[in-house]
Amino acid sequence: MEVGDAIEGRTSIRVFKSDPIDDATVEEGLRLANLAPSAGNLQARDFIIVRNRSAKKSLMKAAYGQDFVEAAPVVIVFCANMERIAHYGERGKQLYCLQDVAAAVQNMMLYLHSKGLGSVWVGAFDEDQAADALNLPSHIRPVAMLPIGHPAEKGVHRKRLPLSELIHRESW
Ligand SMILES: Cc1cc2nc3c(=O)[nH]c(=O)nc-3n(C[C@H](O)[C@H](O)[C@H](O)COP(=O)(O)O)c2cc1C
Repeated sequence: MEVGDAIEGRTSIRVFKSDPIDDATVEEGLRLANLAPSAGNLQARDFIIVRNRSAKKSLMKAAYGQDFVEAAPVVIVFCANMERIAHYGERGKQLYCLQDVAAAVQNMMLYLHSKGLGSVWVGAFDEDQAADALNLPSHIRPVAMLPIGHPAEKGVHRKRLPLSELIHRESW
């Protein structure tokens, strides 16, 4: 699949079949996720693969009851690593590591789509609850959950704002 087709074709998927996702697919996706750019190539991101039902249930609760978090066969929790980004001081902690994570999530989503799999970026969750559920040390911040599965819905191509509202030439 061409990159442009993957970008164009991807939509958030929130309904999954119960069919499993194998480890090789998840690990290949994460390998590609980690090929995304990162500040200073420090790769201030960690990936937690969650398959266990009770752990997924805890994540679902942390995500204010978004049920697809529990229903997906696998959830990846993308985390920012504050120690790995420490070289860049406050800007590293507040901004770079989050961008490192975001770029990785997008790579992963596009790869999954290219393989016929669905996912949805989940950012609405209680960080402390998620961190507790995963036993995260204090320098690891959970940034995004990514429930993954075989799509059981078609997905909606949601409209975007006209580019003319977003593009500014030369200055604001
Ligand atoms: C930072 C971020 C947080 C998001 N959080 C959630 C979420 O908590 N729950 C959810 O269902 N979708 C969430 N989404 C997915 C968006 O709703 C979705 O990407 C957007 O509506 C555009 O739809 P599309 O992904 O199908 O193109 C989030 C997306 C981003 C980038």
